Amino acid sequence: MATILITGANRGLGLDFCRQYAQDNWQVIACCRQPENATELNQLAAQYKNVSVFALDMDDFSQIEQLAVKLSDMSIDVLLNNAGVYGDDAAHRFGNLDYQTWQHTLSTNVFAPVKMIETFLPHVARSEQKKVVAMSSLMGSIADNTSGGSILYRSSKSALNAAMKSIAIELQAKHIAVLILHPGWVRTDMGGSNAPMEIPQSVSHMRDTIANFTLAQTGEFQRYDGQVLPW
Ligand SMILES: NC(=O)c1ccc[n+]([C@@H]2O[C@H](COP(=O)([O-])OP(=O)(O)OC[C@H]3O[C@@H](n4cnc5c(N)ncnc54)[C@H](OP(=O)(O)O)[C@@H]3O)[C@@H](O)[C@H]2O)c1
Repeated sequence: MATILITGANRGLGLDFCRQYAQDNWQVIACCRQPENATELNQLAAQYKNVSVFALDMDDFSQIEQLAVKLSDMSIDVLLNNAGVYGDDAAHRFGNLDYQTWQHTLSTNVFAPVKMIETFLPHVARSEQKKVVAMSSLMGSIADNTSGGSILYRSSKSALNAAMKSIAIELQAKHIAVLILHPGWVRTDMGGSNAPMEIPQSVSHMRDTIANFTLAQTGEFQRYDGQVLPW
């Protein structure tokens, strides 16, 4: 049975990844900040014995290290760094930026996924599939940015992409493939109600893309359906 670790597993894309991988008989390590409040995820774990829920606040590196020790006897085929924050808000546009929130956004969207890879590298390295997935965004594409705005979010995802590209090169010798993924604009709390894509549709596409992804493609920035995106 293949194993996946998913961060931000209590809602949005993360929750549906848990559901779909559980239904497909994967071992799902579902991580979220407050398991005691994760009603839907706990219902899923009650329904599927292959789903285990763990507390993990990505901003707390000691929690990341403690979880790695707790899971030290496990192999992780796919490390899915899904958790993320948007950061920007209408009251703090350019001219009145909130630098503390920017720092927090970088911490959650960039430092934490990198720390996850550093910490869980042994778990991934001894697995069969050896894949790391970073949930990025087309908003991190500098080439695609024609509308501006969202400085906190855009810069965090651009930085995530840059870090993942270097890590992909670093990990190639260990046969670990790094996929940088854009889920589309999806109807979640972050995506909002105007988003054109439903969660299960995006997740289903992304699961196919992750399954088809090979070491030869490592470091690529791909859309949910596998189309390569501009940096
Ligand atoms: N939806 C879209 O259209 C879209 C487009 C492009 C990229 N993305 C990316 O896709 C990923 C998932 O987004 P989503 O739309 O599902 O967002 P969402 O519905 O807002 O969910 C975000 C998830 O991240 C978790 N999270 C935030 N900060 C965390 C932290 N410090 N530690 C642990 N978990 C944390 C949240 O947990 P809490 O419930 O505890 O807050 C929640 O589970 C994000 O990386 C996002 O940037 C989304």
